Amino acid sequence: MRTEQIRAYEPSHEELWLRCRVLSFLHTCYYDDVLVTKPRYDHPSVELVAVADGLVVGVLDVAVRGELATIETIAVHPDHQALGIATGLLDHALPQLRELGATEVDAWTREDPSALRWYSGQGFAETENYVHVYPSGEETAKAVLHTQGFAVVGAFLHAATASEPDLRAQFKRVYRCCRMQRPL
Ligand SMILES: CC(C)(COP(=O)(O)OP(=O)(O)OC[C@H]1O[C@@H](n2cnc3c(N)ncnc32)[C@H](O)[C@@H]1OP(=O)(O)O)[C@@H](O)C(=O)NCCC(=O)NCCS
Repeated sequence: MRTEQIRAYEPSHEELWLRCRVLSFLHTCYYDDVLVTKPRYDHPSVELVAVADGLVVGVLDVAVRGELATIETIAVHPDHQALGIATGLLDHALPQLRELGATEVDAWTREDPSALRWYSGQGFAETENYVHVYPSGEETAKAVLHTQGFAVVGAFLHAATASEPDLRAQFKRVYRCCRMQRPL
């Protein structure tokens, strides 16, 4: 039996929201994309949490810019995945997004199979993509030109998808980033 409840995010949820997000991303391409404060939006937004036994087990933030609603965060605690929580959060959000004037919804995600499958199952299709590269160690100097006397010790790079095979041959940590989109 499902025990979680979907509610509007409140500031008192912040610590539990952050913990849910970091654990949800632990074994994904976003494992080191750690936040220590919850993002706030300059645009209208729908921010929901799924709560079970006093813990936040799922989070969904969607920001609306004109007619486009963008999923900024969707994450379900690993112990609570494949129970319909993300689907429940999205189902809850959709009417609110329509009321805010959105006609399309999109999200950027990387190549985690479970996330791509979930988006496809919800009617999203890939409409755009590019590549992210995180060079490490000696790869960094190879990727970044040194200027103004700086020694570059870390980098996060975007590239066109056409270069993906070359980049994968040269760098260990390369992700394809996909824009998933559907009508509302
Ligand atoms: C992607 C993610 C948000 C999906 O959340 P979720 O709550 O597990 O998703 P759901 O339960 O709604 O759907 C997942 C699967 O469970 C199935 N499912 C739904 N309800 C179910 C139920 N009651 N019993 C069993 N399976 C169920 C769905 O059919 C779906 O199957 P599919 O993946 O083969 O299509 C979650 O895996 C996650 O947090 N991943 C890490 C973070 C991430 O990658 N976020 C997106 C990138 S930005």
